[in-house]
Amino acid sequence: MSHAGIASRRKAEELIAQGRVCVNGVRIKDMGVKVSSGDVVEVDGKKVNLEEKKVYIMLNKPVGYISSAKDQFGRKTVLDLVKDVKERIYPVGRLDYDTSGLILLTNDGEFAYVLTHPSSEIDKVYSVVVKGAVSKDKIKAFKKGIKIDNYITSPAKLRIINITDNTSTVEITIHEGKNRQVRKMCKAIGHPVLKLKRIAIGPLKLGDLEEGKWRHLTEQEVKALKNYAKPV
Ligand code: URA
Repeated sequence: MSHAGIASRRKAEELIAQGRVCVNGVRIKDMGVKVSSGDVVEVDGKKVNLEEKKVYIMLNKPVGYISSAKDQFGRKTVLDLVKDVKERIYPVGRLDYDTSGLILLTNDGEFAYVLTHPSSEIDKVYSVVVKGAVSKDKIKAFKKGIKIDNYITSPAKLRIINITDNTSTVEITIHEGKNRQVRKMCKAIGHPVLKLKRIAIGPLKLGDLEEGKWRHLTEQEVKALKNYAKPV
């Protein structure tokens, strides 16, 4: 009941202790009764909806957090930063341990599937600091495709934001999600990445959300994301 957002865990235990909860027509007294999606649960004779409420969250991931639900090496995960969310959320797609920025978390499997499916072709925008002064001809190279491993990347956008003596800040837009793709593309053009931060996913912008902080997406943002993704 707490997972479905009907009552807090304590309140649910109270309701059970008071004999107000029935499962499949049988009044229960035991806290350990397991229910699954086919079961009918009633509180005070009223059927309750056991479906977990769908939640959509954006997090500004700091460097040093792994973007999976669990880590075999015991490193901190993005879920450590959203501990007060009671729904069973998980990250949508990945950001490297050493990448910061926008990552989505949800308990909506279909939404996660569509967003991460390659044929959805969702643009992801990265703010990148690289070694060296990036020349304009690299913009064309990105448009044409870059050879990484044994693969030519799809047309990507490179925008030069600022160049200092020995570093450049650029904005890179890709819609693929190969392993360490932006790092590999930058290395391939002779400009290894020094700092990588994702700042947008499709129509969704990270904005001024502080590092390590999260917020729920608005209804409009969820709708915009769903509409943006090409059908899988
Ligand atoms: N590309 C990378 O190289 N790393 C990321 O985390 C995301 C995109």
